[in-house]
Amino acid sequence: MIPFLSFDYQDKLYRDQLINAMTKVLDSKWYVMGQQLTEFEIAYAKLHDINFTVGVANGLDALIISLRSLGIGPGDEVIVPSNTYIASWLSVSAIGAVPIPVEPDERTYNINPELIENFITERSKAIMPVHLYGQSCSMTRIMEIAEKHNLYVIEDNAQAHLSKWRGQLTGTFGHINATSFYPGKNLGALGDGGGITTNDELLYQRVKTYRNYGSNKKYYNEEKGTNSRLDELQAAVLNVKLPYLQGLTEERKSIATKYNQLLKDCNEIQIPFVSEEAEHVYHLYVILCSKRDELQLFLKDKKIETLIHYPIPPHLQKAYFDLGYKVGDFPIAEKIANECLSLPLYPGIKDDEIQRVAESIKDFFKK
Ligand SMILES: Cc1ncc(COP(=O)(O)O)c(C=O)c1O
Repeated sequence: MIPFLSFDYQDKLYRDQLINAMTKVLDSKWYVMGQQLTEFEIAYAKLHDINFTVGVANGLDALIISLRSLGIGPGDEVIVPSNTYIASWLSVSAIGAVPIPVEPDERTYNINPELIENFITERSKAIMPVHLYGQSCSMTRIMEIAEKHNLYVIEDNAQAHLSKWRGQLTGTFGHINATSFYPGKNLGALGDGGGITTNDELLYQRVKTYRNYGSNKKYYNEEKGTNSRLDELQAAVLNVKLPYLQGLTEERKSIATKYNQLLKDCNEIQIPFVSEEAEHVYHLYVILCSKRDELQLFLKDKKIETLIHYPIPPHLQKAYFDLGYKVGDFPIAEKIANECLSLPLYPGIKDDEIQRVAESIKDFFKK
């Protein structure tokens, strides 16, 4: 059986360190907003060469709190990709604003910057580029458009830790940016976690206060905040894992290169296209195939597990029935949803397993 994802290799790599770090938290008897969190926030900011990081409870909260800190709310519009995980849209809805979808580039699957200006209105407040599957969006162009129209940019960097655009790390372009440390992410905790990055001290102070009941001093509340803190255990886990992120990212890239090599002549599928200016960190290795469902079943029979990211685009989800979209409104996002298949990719997958996946895909088309 080749699983879609396995943590075995990573667990072995730092199991003892994780146990020590968690024991340290247990012994410290300080479980929320302590030294581990501060250490992680400083280390994550330093790694990104950005002024501030704030740890929060999960990636969705990171997006919601980021949008909120910019004063975006009811009546406002936020430009989002039509092709994304639903969390990007949900964060906009959560603050009472309206997600305005823009179709992706057909090759990179990321928001097509050349379409964005068609959707800017007097209600537009921000653009939310999502670095989907681990590849950076066209950040130069997106920042240019935002500046021209006086819009904020909030990067959704949940899938793209250490991805780059023209050599600059994602999560450092926007006015404020959000990420997730969900266990399966490239940098994952052992439970939920999220983070916000910004260079702006005012926004930093706002999100720091808001995540903690709107309080900077115990029992003194400056605003109606929330409880969304990255707890000490998760921060301790992330402190152990952070120094390994670069190495594990290189492994992801090398696995993707092997898949590319083995699948490049398989004309029935589209392998990931990487823009020359982007660095892809392969949170997911996604192929497109018009016979996707049959291929997935064929691979399952061969004991190869694959997943679909994502089978239904946000505009066709029941949750967004109220926006009145129908099939055909965002054909590129719909085509990706109908044809995408994510292949097993995780540090520790063996060469012969990569080979077996690729050979099985080719066998499917020979039959
Ligand atoms: C693109 C994207 N945005 C946001 C999120 C939300 O992160 P979380 O699951 O930590 O809330 C995720 C992950 O699930 C994601 O993939």
